Amino acid sequence: MTFFITGATGFIGRHVCASLTRHNHAVVAMLRQPEVQLDTLRQQVDSLGGQGHLLQAISGDLDQPELGLTTALPKLDAVIHLGARFAWRLDTETARRTNVTGSLAVAELARRQQCRLVFISGFMLENHAHLNRLGIDPATPSHTEWPKVYRRAGGYEASKLEAAIRARAFARQHALDFVEVQPATVAGNSHTGELDNSQPLYSLLDNLACGRLALVPGTRAHWLPLVAVDHLADIIRLAATADVVPEKLLALDRQTPNLQPLLAQAASHMGKRAPRGYIPMPVLAALLRIPGLPALMNTYPEALHFIQPTRFDTAATEDFLKQHQIAVPKMEKVIEMSTRHYSQQHTGLSPAEWR
Ligand SMILES: NC(=O)c1ccc[n+]([C@@H]2O[C@H](COP(=O)([O-])OP(=O)(O)OC[C@H]3O[C@@H](n4cnc5c(N)ncnc54)[C@H](OP(=O)(O)O)[C@@H]3O)[C@@H](O)[C@H]2O)c1
Repeated sequence: MTFFITGATGFIGRHVCASLTRHNHAVVAMLRQPEVQLDTLRQQVDSLGGQGHLLQAISGDLDQPELGLTTALPKLDAVIHLGARFAWRLDTETARRTNVTGSLAVAELARRQQCRLVFISGFMLENHAHLNRLGIDPATPSHTEWPKVYRRAGGYEASKLEAAIRARAFARQHALDFVEVQPATVAGNSHTGELDNSQPLYSLLDNLACGRLALVPGTRAHWLPLVAVDHLADIIRLAATADVVPEKLLALDRQTPNLQPLLAQAASHMGKRAPRGYIPMPVLAALLRIPGLPALMNTYPEALHFIQPTRFDTAATEDFLKQHQIAVPKMEKVIEMSTRHYSQQHTGLSPAEWR
């Protein structure tokens, strides 16, 4: 089978390329600078156990009309859309251009190819109380006043929500074969702990290691749901390749500990003390409005939304994974490996020397 992928060079994307090529699928990656990015990506895919030579690149950009594609594409079995601007404090215009307009251009490509669209959104689309608070009624999302949502949620989250809601509507209108994968916050590779330093979990570990986390955000019930990046990549591969797939796959490990025990686990691997007291979210959010404090604390108010007390129904994904005999890596191990990888990056010590 042949798959088209956006965001292939990203943390999740290169794991998806490895998972697809490991199963002998051909991948066409849309890259902004194929001449400088393809070689590195092939090497990364090889080192993740994939087959880099099964990867071809095509020049394209989510910010360009019709993705800036100038080369004819082969017949595709599915389009996998991961590409996005993933950052805090994105301005509305920039976030919408790449994450919303770009996503709809990718959906249009899948329509023209008459193939499946595997669309990567996020787990907060299943937190209906949160959507309501932002002003999105999940029953009538087309009535949303988006400028309000952008003010309340920030550019990244708002644009991801808008993109998913508009892509769903596009898929319905054109009877597209549409699968939405909704990842939790991504943790490191379950075997190696590899975790990019731009990932939110990396920042949390960094805050813990550097003593910037004196108190735990929220309450005892708050958690930051996680999914190991290689496990997520397998879910995305199956979403693209299986004959029958649920419309939505919530990729979230229910075994993720609540935030305080998660920090305690990570701290024990760092030889540090974890915070035990709590700071209520509204107090923390108010503090983070003080200019300069977000940068000093390495915490941005928008990031706090992802730490919340809501529990999620993951039965459909669990059944799907059982059918395909995919085992879920143990979250305790994933947290340990991610922390070890973080410490190794930070201290320069190998895992054997560490501790
Ligand atoms: N990581 C998480 O915790 C998480 C959780 C839920 C959902 N997601 C979603 O999963 C997807 C991938 O996340 P990630 O963590 O892998 O992100 P990432 O490491 O930041 O990768 C982003 C990717 O998007 C590409 N990209 C950015 N702007 C582009 C543009 N204008 N045109 C084409 N490509 C562009 C980047 O390409 P360059 O290399 O050229 O910059 C890169 O390949 C995103 O849609 C994100 O919203 C992530």
